[in-house]
Amino acid sequence: MPDIKKPINAVLNPLGYTIIKNKNYRKNIGKFAYDKVLPHANFSPWLNHADFQAVFQKIKSNTLVDVFRCFELWQLVEQCEKNPLPGAYIEIGTWRGGTAGIIGSQLKALNSNNVLYVADTFKGVVKTSAADSAYTGGEHSDTSRSLVEELLFNTLSLKNIQILEGIFPDDTQHLIPTDTQFKFCHIDVDVYQSAIDIVDWIWPKLQVGGMIVFDDYGFHTCDGIARYVEEHRADTNKLVIHNLNGHAIFVKLS
Ligand SMILES: C[S@@+](CC[C@H](N)C(=O)[O-])C[C@H]1O[C@@H](n2cnc3c(N)ncnc32)[C@H](O)[C@@H]1O
Repeated sequence: MPDIKKPINAVLNPLGYTIIKNKNYRKNIGKFAYDKVLPHANFSPWLNHADFQAVFQKIKSNTLVDVFRCFELWQLVEQCEKNPLPGAYIEIGTWRGGTAGIIGSQLKALNSNNVLYVADTFKGVVKTSAADSAYTGGEHSDTSRSLVEELLFNTLSLKNIQILEGIFPDDTQHLIPTDTQFKFCHIDVDVYQSAIDIVDWIWPKLQVGGMIVFDDYGFHTCDGIARYVEEHRADTNKLVIHNLNGHAIFVKLS
């Protein structure tokens, strides 16, 4: 079906109306309810943030992540850099490198010396289980290490990056010095068991005030991530935050 939204919205937008395709119509998956989330707020600082936009335009064809979550990653890195202690950054689930490009470019803009580790199997999603209603394994294998290297090292001219190829943490944790402390972890692996294994690995290495961002929390195809986050909502050693853009965030308290 042709995209009829654009011409109709060209007429409706000046009148203050927009039509939106609702792929995420009301449904329940297990105990979780899903519907299109349309908050009423309209502050949109990403629109005229020149530095962010310059990076976003370069990475947007390499990411599955919308501008709302990309801009939040950009801002959260800036917040994490307020902590003067050194601490590494890590993204697990990079696919074609888009969100890693956002994180790395913000570190570069802030003149940070902290390393960004970028982890992917480059063979798609792994460790699917009965906790995941949509993923069966192997999704998002349409990428490669060289494609990510081209974006990060050539297009974005980033330097402080180490790529970890294989299942994380199982295959590649040994490539990170054992005494490494982390400020920030972006988890975009889509499924429950990978989230468990990654958080179990990184939690003791995360600085107090450090954070873990779950990309997939607010999406019905990634109900395993919602399950994982909700299992931790009552923990007293962390803040658990639901952002209506679809992110969930853990902030380490102790
Ligand atoms: C949705 S994609 C990531 C999207 C990406 N962040 C972007 O900017 O569009 C999920 C990726 O996670 C990777 N992945 C899933 N589980 C993993 C694991 N345990 N270790 C490493 N990579 C993993 C998959 O190979 C896939 O490329």
